[in-house]
Amino acid sequence: MESILNANKAWIDETWDKMVEKLRKVSVSTRNKLPHSTVDGVYDDKSGGLASSWTNGFWPGIMWLMYAGTGEDTFRKTAENGEEILDKALACYNVLHHDVGFMWHISAGANYRLTGNEKSKNRNLHAAAALAARYNVNGEFIKAWNEEGFEGWVIIDSMMNIPLLYWAEKETNNIAFRQIAMHHADKTMEHHIRPDGSVYHIMDYDINTGECNGPARITQGYEPKTSSWSRGQAWAIYGFVLSYLHTGEQRYLDTAKKVAHYFISAIIPDNFVPRSDFRAPEEPIYYDTSAAAIAACGLIEIAKAVPEFEKKMYMQAAVNIMKALVEKHCDFTDKDEAILQNCTGSYGEEVHYTCVYGEYYFVEAMYKLKGFEPLFW
Ligand code: GLY
Repeated sequence: MESILNANKAWIDETWDKMVEKLRKVSVSTRNKLPHSTVDGVYDDKSGGLASSWTNGFWPGIMWLMYAGTGEDTFRKTAENGEEILDKALACYNVLHHDVGFMWHISAGANYRLTGNEKSKNRNLHAAAALAARYNVNGEFIKAWNEEGFEGWVIIDSMMNIPLLYWAEKETNNIAFRQIAMHHADKTMEHHIRPDGSVYHIMDYDINTGECNGPARITQGYEPKTSSWSRGQAWAIYGFVLSYLHTGEQRYLDTAKKVAHYFISAIIPDNFVPRSDFRAPEEPIYYDTSAAAIAACGLIEIAKAVPEFEKKMYMQAAVNIMKALVEKHCDFTDKDEAILQNCTGSYGEEVHYTCVYGEYYFVEAMYKLKGFEPLFW
């Protein structure tokens, strides 16, 4: 692993430096914003209303990563502003959803980890309590959304939210947080992961018996039953390795590896840049660079977790992905405030746009390749 990082040191250092230079400027222009995407090169702002969008924690998260990597106050200030704006959502229980992990664990949670801020710790614990309250006891799953008719829907993305619960157990000594997270992870492992390592996006469960009714009727991929939404595969890779890191349970690492093997095979034909869905018609081509960056973060954690002689394949795959993004899908100029280009929200929608979650995982992967800590999840 070290030899791969050493062989790539020059471009990692060069990319990090370009990233710092650009994000230093953007940290000022976004000081009071919660960006989602750029429009004509300028970040929009989702801080209005109750600010409950699932993507609203990523900008403070990026700022905390940069603060942890540089110690520069400009990043801390923008991160703190974003965290305060999010209080509007935290105060309104009914607008909260399963993505509270994305929203608070890398904003308030990161603040607490880096600075010891007690107010931030409290915010993150409230978010954890709201996530735990979504648990269906009979079904042993965390429901994703609040809409009528979606009561039994579980989405693979939730695997990235449950690290908030593992953290809450450590902070409160309340084992229920961990039990809920593990039941949810086990249920997801049983029903979302296909034998070949590909992943269903949304599964539907009976809310009284917990019986699995099969895939839900919608997806962000090409179609719900047979296709393979690449960002869903990436959430599974990173989510399951994180469950392993928090519990030490080998089955979660094995699951992360299985999905990773499928993901790595699926990106080889496109030179390590995933399409939005791996099982869709050849044309049109929709790349999703956010899936690439999320998977790279997960692959790096797998590489760190596995025994010595297994490390190379995961780390080399992560490096290949990140190099492909840097060479063909990044803007380090002032033309666009976002660095990572060509993310895709859903198959055929928000195609080749910039998005703050793609940006977050791109920055996190570079932070990891530089050897910075702590892990934010
Ligand atoms: N969690 C929603 C998405 O990945 O688009």
